[in-house]
Amino acid sequence: MQLNGKTAIVTGASSGIGTEFSRALIAKGCHVFGLARRGDRLQQLADRLGELFTPVILDINDYEKVEKWVRNTFSASSGTKSPGSAGLGSPNASSPYSSPDILINNAGIGAFGAVDELSHEQWDMMIQTNLTAVFRLTRLIVPLMKQHAATTHIVNIASVAGLIGNPNISGYNASKFGLRGFSEALFKELREYRIKVTCIFPGSIATEFFDDHGGTHPNMMQGSDVANTLIHILETPDNFLIDEITLRPLIPKPPAK
Ligand SMILES: NC(=O)c1ccc[n+]([C@@H]2O[C@H](COP(=O)([O-])OP(=O)(O)OC[C@H]3O[C@@H](n4cnc5c(N)ncnc54)[C@H](OP(=O)(O)O)[C@@H]3O)[C@@H](O)[C@H]2O)c1
Repeated sequence: MQLNGKTAIVTGASSGIGTEFSRALIAKGCHVFGLARRGDRLQQLADRLGELFTPVILDINDYEKVEKWVRNTFSASSGTKSPGSAGLGSPNASSPYSSPDILINNAGIGAFGAVDELSHEQWDMMIQTNLTAVFRLTRLIVPLMKQHAATTHIVNIASVAGLIGNPNISGYNASKFGLRGFSEALFKELREYRIKVTCIFPGSIATEFFDDHGGTHPNMMQGSDVANTLIHILETPDNFLIDEITLRPLIPKPPAK
């Protein structure tokens, strides 16, 4: 996909790799709708990134508000893809955007701890945010993408925890393993509509994600490097799909003191 002039949704844009994804997409000329709950952080980002960044204060777990935002922002008015199409109901004729070209399902949370210490609330919140909210936003965007004449792309941010189970991260593992399965099914289901689906499995990246988990260290990956990989994945030719990709620090352990 040639990115200049395209429209992207990035969930979790207020910090970490979501911020870096937004910056990198805008550097390529994309319009980015950046979703998150912290409006102050989104506004700071808008001040930095300029008019190509639209801050959208939304809790992705609030399905009614997410649905309303999608309906008010996009209208499926462009050419229909074969085979067939699915509709969202009445298109919003006043919207300047027919469909996002790119959906980055990035927002996510982690609560770690022994299985007998993980609370129901922590488990539910991870499954909701990392998995159910991804399904719910995706099911609103896919009908728009199906009616988009050109190739579109959904990118889901999982984790190496979506590939390998480990002690004390069972709930996070379950949510990210689920996201992997969802992504693989979508890739096979949506390819005939020229909707690409990619699942990214990063190892440790230096972000606020580790604020409650021991902090970052210099051997973690940098968000900007992960964003460069995202751009590469998006810019591949239309008939070329990177469906899954694992990103790791070469030396993952903290440097010796
Ligand atoms: N850092 C790593 O090592 C690592 C490794 C592998 C995978 N990942 C994944 O990468 C993704 C991004 O994480 P990060 O490292 O960039 O961490 P981060 O800096 O903590 O960012 C998480 C983002 O998700 C947003 N978010 C969380 N819950 C939300 C909700 N209910 N509604 C809307 N937005 C919500 C947060 O925004 P608000 O708080 O403003 O809502 C924030 O922008 C996550 O899916 C994470 O699981 C991270």
